[in-house]
Amino acid sequence: MEQYDFRKMSFYQIWIRSFCDGNGDGIGDLYGVYEKLDYIKSLGVDGIWFSPIYPSPNADYGYDISDYRNIHPDYGTMEQFRKVLARAHELGLKVLLDLVVNHTSDEHPWFLESRKNRENPYSDYYIWRDPRFRKKKKRPPNNWFSQFEGLAWEYGEERQQYYLHVFAKKQPDLNMDNPKVREEVKGIMRFWLDMGVDGFREDVITYISKHPQLPDGLPFVPAINGLKFYKDGPNLMTYLKEFREVAKEYGALQIGEAPMTPVNVALNYVSGNDRVLDMMIQFDTMMADCIMVEYVHHRFLLRKLKRAFSKWQNKLSGKAWNALYLENHDHPRVISRYGSERYWRESGTMLAACYLFQQGTPFVYQGQELGMTNIALPSIDMYEDVASINAYHTFHKHEPEAKRMRRIHVASRDSARTPMQWNDSENAGFSTVKPWFYVNPNYPRINAEAEEKDPDSILNFYRKCLALRKQEEALLRGSYREYYPLRGRQYLYERRLGDERILVICSFSEKEQNCRLPKGFDPEKALILLDNYPAAGSGNGAGGRPDGRGGKKTAAVLRLRPYETVVMKISG
Ligand code: GLC
Ligand code: CA
Repeated sequence: MEQYDFRKMSFYQIWIRSFCDGNGDGIGDLYGVYEKLDYIKSLGVDGIWFSPIYPSPNADYGYDISDYRNIHPDYGTMEQFRKVLARAHELGLKVLLDLVVNHTSDEHPWFLESRKNRENPYSDYYIWRDPRFRKKKKRPPNNWFSQFEGLAWEYGEERQQYYLHVFAKKQPDLNMDNPKVREEVKGIMRFWLDMGVDGFREDVITYISKHPQLPDGLPFVPAINGLKFYKDGPNLMTYLKEFREVAKEYGALQIGEAPMTPVNVALNYVSGNDRVLDMMIQFDTMMADCIMVEYVHHRFLLRKLKRAFSKWQNKLSGKAWNALYLENHDHPRVISRYGSERYWRESGTMLAACYLFQQGTPFVYQGQELGMTNIALPSIDMYEDVASINAYHTFHKHEPEAKRMRRIHVASRDSARTPMQWNDSENAGFSTVKPWFYVNPNYPRINAEAEEKDPDSILNFYRKCLALRKQEEALLRGSYREYYPLRGRQYLYERRLGDERILVICSFSEKEQNCRLPKGFDPEKALILLDNYPAAGSGNGAGGRPDGRGGKKTAAVLRLRPYETVVMKISG
């Protein structure tokens, strides 16, 4: 079947547990989603990606699945899912599900069987290995660390073997080299595609093919010392091709999550008509304030962000298509990272413009459109995320408590998982009862209802940006060019199609500053498509500017206010 044109689209991501509680038990669910479909549609997006909604013991909140063909009872029933799907389709919204097949839950029936002995039909569904013996003591088969919890191996008494888990202990890795496992994956895909689902976001899909020998990694690198032996492995392409065949039958979309995959490798998967994935969720743009993961934090460096943006824009240009995002359920809130909580509205709107006008298909994560910010809970016991809790207990143990907690506040994925802030009533309108997780105390100020009423809110700015993408062909198909990569506080890029040129100007500074514009851009003559400072309004010219905008004989200079963004267009 022919594929729909995902290049023209944008998607909204739902992490259901914290989205909207429709049946009053404190947990977000599909009843809540159903109520909010009109809201989602009103943003101007074209589809929804659901993080996992399947039965799961929630060791990793849905990413540890115990039944691939069902709905978690916390979130509703299959019937309710069908209702959501049908209504979404009526509204013209595509629906993508999360396909998590690098691992299952250890409570999945396959694993319960597999762990029993070496001779059952599921014994080879997972990656089991004999122990190594050192001085007669039993040791794991290699020295890999898991990304979430201690070593990557757990011992199964019954089989007297270790199983591999690249993530948490309760997430045993599937053995994708087993053809039966691949048939299972295809069966799961068909199950949902037959129901009418439009495609998948594929969880850590670049990890599914392991090096056959599972060699030792470097002994002194924590958490990811085995990475090079399980990422982009030898059979990955073959397996992705098999899955692609299924997707093609349905014209389904496939977006692969690919932590640490460099752009040149990514191109193997996403370019050309025989591509095996349509887009890739890269991680480079998530590392402008950290090294590899948020726990290894440094101050935000705009130049690092710009390099990452431009690298993906330039390398994929004409060959492949980008997935654009600044937030999801795995990263802290972007205003708290790359913007400024002090200039909350200004930086929240500027950050929208800084990525939504690049070439690619944008994803907006629930609450991002409201400018939700990080939460700082006082004690590690109040956190839920297995990765945060483990990082706290593993690293920096010698440091004072306050400093260790600050690291969690900066880095935890839980900041993206606080309940959606719908209004200023109790529990932020997320639920009528006490929610499963803490509501950010800033909800009386930051919430959807208040922002609906304010034409200059972050919410309405997202709407304007998403609408503009649909209106300006250059934003969809135009080429990308970055100006002044060395500027440390400004990001300028142009999208050009024929003689139409659109310039996106972003200030990443709390101070006013001058911004010299590229040749040809005269703010007196350009059409201002967007400006995040209300008084400036829209339309031609320099209305509402404090001083000194443009106009001299030499290159034009724009006076930028804190975190200002201006989008201007010239033709001819
Ligand atoms: C992906 C998911 C993340 C999960 C991990 C293991 O990175 O986005 O939430 O913890 O895979 O499934
Ligand atoms: Ca509920």
